[in-house]
Amino acid sequence: MAARPAVGIHDLSAATTHHVLTHATLAATNGTDVAKYHRGIGLRAMSVPAPDEDIVTMAAAAAAPVVARHGTDRIRTIVFATESSVDQAKAAGIHVHSLLGFPSATRVVELKQACYGGTAGLQFAVGLVHRDPSQQVLVIASDVSKYALGEPGEATQGAAAVAMLVGADPALVRVEDPSGMFTADVMDFWRPNYRTTALVDGHESISAYLQAVEGSWKDYTERGGRALDEFGAFCYHQPFPRMADKAHRHLLNYCGRDVDDALVAGAIGHTTGYNAEIGNSYTASMYLGLAALLDTADDLSGRTIGFLSYGSGSVAEFFAGTVVPGYREHTRPDQHRAAIDRRQEVDYDTYRELHEHAFPVDGGDYPVPAVTTGPYRLAGLSGHKRVYEPR
Ligand code: HMG
Repeated sequence: MAARPAVGIHDLSAATTHHVLTHATLAATNGTDVAKYHRGIGLRAMSVPAPDEDIVTMAAAAAAPVVARHGTDRIRTIVFATESSVDQAKAAGIHVHSLLGFPSATRVVELKQACYGGTAGLQFAVGLVHRDPSQQVLVIASDVSKYALGEPGEATQGAAAVAMLVGADPALVRVEDPSGMFTADVMDFWRPNYRTTALVDGHESISAYLQAVEGSWKDYTERGGRALDEFGAFCYHQPFPRMADKAHRHLLNYCGRDVDDALVAGAIGHTTGYNAEIGNSYTASMYLGLAALLDTADDLSGRTIGFLSYGSGSVAEFFAGTVVPGYREHTRPDQHRAAIDRRQEVDYDTYRELHEHAFPVDGGDYPVPAVTTGPYRLAGLSGHKRVYEPR
């Protein structure tokens, strides 16, 4: 049998929203010591969508630079992972397919399993490319994290999209076998179809996450995965950046290692920069961690990264990826910095109005004022249909 080609992430591009709320503003409004947010959970700000932004506009904004660089010729499949879907039937990726001018000879599908969906998309893409290495898959993870006002989860909201081009001989990260899997039926975080905000048992969700770290690592090692010392960095799902710290300490403990602050900071440090300013972006969060790592760490060529993807409910997967020498010519640090820096800060009252924004559900015409400075916008709702347009 011919040797299988290396398959993995060939390009990675992130986008976020027009608005941002700082945790200093949130703390000043709700009377919380801001140190709880800055140090206790590791967040400084969270992205807030404008009324003309949603998972589709963020996804198209993230994917457009990938399409501009690589074209659409080899992309036969678009996988859209989200848990803040805008329709129960139609895949959000079809709007992206249309906005970005993909050919009709493309497969488009939406995937869901809480924050784990992006990794499901990546692994399905790797499988498709192994079947036909001439094809590429566009994997998009896009989410708006939303909790009820005044709930503890409110401080861990956020929004972002990551688009990844998956192909053979990737320029950024080779995805390795094996994967370690873990599934447990827990109600730590969920969102019934009739709700716009998630329900969560916060402390239970942290325990469930840590149990999943253990379970997926155990399966990974039993399947012949790498030893702990072979990893140069660890990229964890980040509902808030301190969770990566908790998770890595838990893994070290489970492996019987000394838990040293400097060791933990060295392993996860560069992965938290973007998430600390964007907040939870569910499916996109771990891949924002990867973007920050590739964009800001010293040369990682040839180093192995451990990925721990967790989605409440719960499903987790641990897998390894090796950074391809020369990757720095293909990263997008300036684009990512600019997306974070150009957000417009809102005061608490404006954030509250945005949080409560909802369309009437009577099938009427509801145009949306033009606010976003992103490349695509939601023009409105007409006859129950969402209408998107380039800005
Ligand atoms: P809380 O109960 O308000 O906060 O909510 P806390 O009392 O646990 O404090 C948080 C930390 O701040 C603690 O640190 C405090 O000590 C510290 P720790 O003890 O954990 O090390 N602290 C301070 N530090 C410095 N100065 C101070 C101060 N005061 C307190 N003055 C919670 C926190 C995360 C539970 C809440 O925000 C929440 O419910 N968030 C949503 C759920 C969540 O993010 N869960 C994470 C795991 S589940 C997951 O990752 C999946 C998810 O992404 C969804 C999906 O899969 O789709 C959520």
